[in-house]
Amino acid sequence: MKETTKVPKEITVKQLAEKVGVDATTVRRKINNGEIQALFAGKGFLSTDIAIEHYEFSQEHKKTLESMKTHAKVISFVNHKGGCSKTTTAYTIAAMLQKFGNKVLLVDMDPQGNSTQSVLEPHSNEEGITLPYPKTIKDLLVEKKNSGTVGETLFTEVIRSSRFGFDAIPCDLSLNSIMPDLESSSFKEVILKELLNEIAEKYDYIIIDTPPTLGFSVISSLTASDYVLVVTLAEAFSILGVEQTMNLINSVKRQNSVLANPREMRILGIVISKAEMATNVSRHFVSELESFSEEHTIPLFIDDIIPKTTKIPETQALNVLITDYDAKGDASLAYFNIALKIDIEIKKDRIKEKLSK
Ligand SMILES: Nc1ncnc2c1ncn2[C@@H]1O[C@H](COP(=O)(O)OP(=O)(O)OP(=O)(O)O)[C@@H](O)[C@H]1O
Ligand SMILES: [Mg+2]
Repeated sequence: MKETTKVPKEITVKQLAEKVGVDATTVRRKINNGEIQALFAGKGFLSTDIAIEHYEFSQEHKKTLESMKTHAKVISFVNHKGGCSKTTTAYTIAAMLQKFGNKVLLVDMDPQGNSTQSVLEPHSNEEGITLPYPKTIKDLLVEKKNSGTVGETLFTEVIRSSRFGFDAIPCDLSLNSIMPDLESSSFKEVILKELLNEIAEKYDYIIIDTPPTLGFSVISSLTASDYVLVVTLAEAFSILGVEQTMNLINSVKRQNSVLANPREMRILGIVISKAEMATNVSRHFVSELESFSEEHTIPLFIDDIIPKTTKIPETQALNVLITDYDAKGDASLAYFNIALKIDIEIKKDRIKEKLSK
């Protein structure tokens, strides 16, 4: 068994200054104006080596990046197995990408509505009684199906500002009520893709949180996606879920190859969550995931394993982000690094696309 005890390393402002080759005051200024990414941990900032890579990349390509028109890249967070941190990972990465200066929209495609509940204030009447959101993703899909276009007014009614800075489209059980109708429509695979196309110029990233099912929600989310992030636990059933999810992605790709401008659905990588690296079982399954990723040439975020920590459920009870609540913790640093790596990777692709035009 390979040794996998890597955890993300934090660096202080002083170390950051030495590595970047400027003084600490300049580093603090660069953090404050968003040039260098860092987390705020009570008394001061902390950062990571990946944040330096992100800073150097952004500096090197500053002009090109500034000259590029906004056009959202869509990322789906998937695993057909339930409870493996898809939602937690999706909204935490959304918050990080927004914090890095991007404009982000989170789309909840899960009728359980967990990301909706995690990021939006509840909708309530004057007496303070919680009510369902008046308009959700369901209304957008119905309008798209019936009229072909959604239009600005309905989007404005549906899209809400989340407590973590990014925008969000809520979802609830009402999505289930339109499934049979959507499933029988010839338009079903592309409906979400075309819906999101209408607002693509307003965002840099659209993050989709998907349910642990196979069916309309997941297939239409994949079809709408430029990138896919697979989230798994280091345990047998979740790894089976990863394999089944890969098969699903490949079959959706094959089906979609006949569509005009099919989305690439490139797998950004596999994120391991709720790992307990002190146990043999987690180490064993992390090692299995390493072999799986090598065999299938799929990147694995092996240096950014998200540990199991009671701090995550605590953040969900308190409606805060782990990166604010426990900035120094390994879960925060892992999420911070994963988001930085995603931002670099996708911006590299966007630059390549621009140069190839
Ligand atoms: N790193 C972590 N450590 C401990 N608990 C976690 C961690 N990440 C998520 N959880 C908890 O695990 C549960 C499932 O997480 P989450 O809802 O993000 O998974 P999911 O894959 O979206 O689930 P579903 O398949 O039902 O949509 C939640 O109670 C959450 O608080
Ligand atoms: Mg979920």
